[in-house]
Amino acid sequence: MPWNLINFADWRDLWYLILKKTAGPFFKLFFKQRDERTKSFWQNRTGQKIQALNLSAVFKQMYELQLADNSKADFFPFFKENVIRKYNVRKILSLGSGNGSFELQLAEELSEISIDGYDFALKRVEFARQLCQQKNLVSRVNFFCADIFKTDFPKNHYDLILARAILHHIKKLHILMQKLKETLKADGLLFCDEFVGPRRFQWSKNQLKLANALLVVAPEKYRLDQSRLMIKKKIVAPSRLRMWLLDPSEAVSSDRIIPLLNSYFQPILLQERGGSLSQLIFYQIAGNFKEDDPLAQEYIRIVLEVEKLALKSGYLENNYIFGLWQNKHKKNPQTRNFSEKQN
Ligand SMILES: C[S@@+](CC[C@H](N)C(=O)[O-])C[C@H]1O[C@@H](n2cnc3c(N)ncnc32)[C@H](O)[C@@H]1O
Repeated sequence: MPWNLINFADWRDLWYLILKKTAGPFFKLFFKQRDERTKSFWQNRTGQKIQALNLSAVFKQMYELQLADNSKADFFPFFKENVIRKYNVRKILSLGSGNGSFELQLAEELSEISIDGYDFALKRVEFARQLCQQKNLVSRVNFFCADIFKTDFPKNHYDLILARAILHHIKKLHILMQKLKETLKADGLLFCDEFVGPRRFQWSKNQLKLANALLVVAPEKYRLDQSRLMIKKKIVAPSRLRMWLLDPSEAVSSDRIIPLLNSYFQPILLQERGGSLSQLIFYQIAGNFKEDDPLAQEYIRIVLEVEKLALKSGYLENNYIFGLWQNKHKKNPQTRNFSEKQN
C-alpha cells in the first residue's frame, strides 16, 4: 500500500483482537475525537516493560554523556551541575511531566528550585501528586492537569523549561515555541530530551534493513511478543492508520523539532543519542532480555555496537537528542557538543 496507510500488521492484530473477542474498544477509537484518543492512550499506559529504554544497557548508552577527554558522565549529576547550578536556575516549567519522577528527583536533590509540571493525562498527574506528597515536596512542586496549549503561562517567569519526550507529540510547534519564548526569562533555558527521528515512525529503508537483519538472528525465545503471544519476525513501520487511531500525536512533527528550536532559540549544547536500531528491535520484546542472561546481554551489546557504527558511518540517522537552548538570539550561534568543556 503506497504511503503505508494500512499494512499487514494491522490485519494481523485486528484478527488477534477478534479471536480474543476484544475488538470492541478498537472500533470505538474511530468515533473518538483526536485529542481524546491521545489522552486515553496516555491514561491507559501500563508499566509493561516493552521499550528499548527499559533495558539497562540501552538506557546507559542513551543517557551517558561523552566528555571531551573521552570519559563518560552520568546524565543526572551532569545536568544538576552543568545546567541547574551553572545557570543558577530557580523556577522550572516542565511540559508533559507525566508521572513526575524526574521532576521530583530534581526537587529532592536541589532545595533551591521550584517546579510547575503540566500534563493533560489525569491519572498520571494524580500519580505525580501522590508521590509529591509522600516526598514532602508540595511547597516547591506543583502538578497541574492541563493541556499546555490551553494554558496561559506567566510572562517572563521561568529560568528553565524541561521538554522531555513531549515536543515530538506537538503538531503546532511554531505556536508552542512562541509561548515558551514568552514565559521564559530573557536569558532562560530550554532543555530537550527528545525523539527527533522520522515523522510518524516511518522508518528509513536502511533502518528497516539493518534492524530486520539483526532481529532474525536473535533466538526465538527473545522474540516472543508477550502481548500478542507470537514471535516477532519482521519489523515494519507502523501504518499511518494505526498511528492516527492509537495516538495521533505520536511523532507528528518530530523531524522539525531541531530546526525550529534553532530558529527560535540560541543553541548551546547538543548530544545525539542514537536509538535508531534499538528502538525498533526491542519494541514489544524488551521484557525477554533479562539482566542475568549472558546471551541476551551479549545480543543487546552487539545491537548497540552496530548502531554506533552505522551512525558513525552515516548509514543510519540519529533518532534521539539531548539539547540545551537559550532564549536569546546571537548572530552565527555556535552549538557545542555536550562533551566540550564549558567555561
Ligand atoms: C512520552 S510522555 C513523557 C512524560 C515525561 N516527560 C517523561 O519523560 O517520562 C508524554 C507526556 O506528555 C503528555 N502530553 C502530551 N500532549 C500534551 C499536551 N498538549 N498538554 C499536556 N500534556 C501533554 C502526555 O500525557 C504524556 O504524559
